[in-house]
Amino acid sequence: MTEAPVIAPPRAFVRPSRDDDVPAMLAIYRYHIAHGVGDLGDYEPDSLDVEDLKRRRKNMRGRRLPHVVAERGGEVVGYAYAVPFRKRPAYRYAVKHSIYVRHDTQHEGIGRMLLVALVDACAASDYRQMIGYIDGANVASLRLHESCGFREVGRLPAIGYKFGRWADSVIVQRSLGLGASAPPGQWTAADGESGALS
Ligand SMILES: CC(C)(COP(=O)(O)OP(=O)(O)OC[C@H]1O[C@@H](n2cnc3c(N)ncnc32)[C@H](O)[C@@H]1OP(=O)(O)O)[C@@H](O)C(=O)NCCC(=O)NCCS
Repeated sequence: MTEAPVIAPPRAFVRPSRDDDVPAMLAIYRYHIAHGVGDLGDYEPDSLDVEDLKRRRKNMRGRRLPHVVAERGGEVVGYAYAVPFRKRPAYRYAVKHSIYVRHDTQHEGIGRMLLVALVDACAASDYRQMIGYIDGANVASLRLHESCGFREVGRLPAIGYKFGRWADSVIVQRSLGLGASAPPGQWTAADGESGALS
């Protein structure tokens, strides 16, 4: 008797996002905000639409900032992106980021894959510090970040109120590449004056 061939499940991989990924990204985002997880500021289910997401993707492209999806078996199972930490020029080597994994594929290593890809891409673009704001009750995200080299650098107690509870915002940070040990490679006085990220 011949045995049935074993078919390995498809592997997830990370790639730059495309405009046609936007509906899947939006569905992932909406699920999480409807269930009270995600970033503390994520609250309004209709606060983001397809055009907003497309615009955000385009804005990031010109700034050498990653906007990526995790794909598995032809489906988007998560997405992540980094944005400037603040617009003022002095902060132009710092980014903050967000990650969302599709609810039915959580805890399968996809969040870690996305976060590692973001860290690598931001470091390659000579960003030096990466910051995340995490709801204090979001144990999964806190652990994920800790395991990827982030440490808690601040906590804003009871700064938010959602789904009937006061919520802390935990600020996590890690350095990228050379961090603060060397000046940034691309800095010029002209950059400082024009404010590359403003
Ligand atoms: C937080 C989130 C991105 C994690 O992604 P994920 O794919 O589920 O995480 P991974 O499978 O890659 O797990 C990586 C590590 O995170 C931690 N982790 C993940 N899920 C966890 C859970 N439910 N409880 C505790 N720790 C958890 C573990 O340390 C895990 O490492 P391990 O598997 O070696 O134990 C995902 O759960 C998610 O999208 N949540 C909703 C949106 C959100 O909270 N985004 C982050 C906003 S700051």
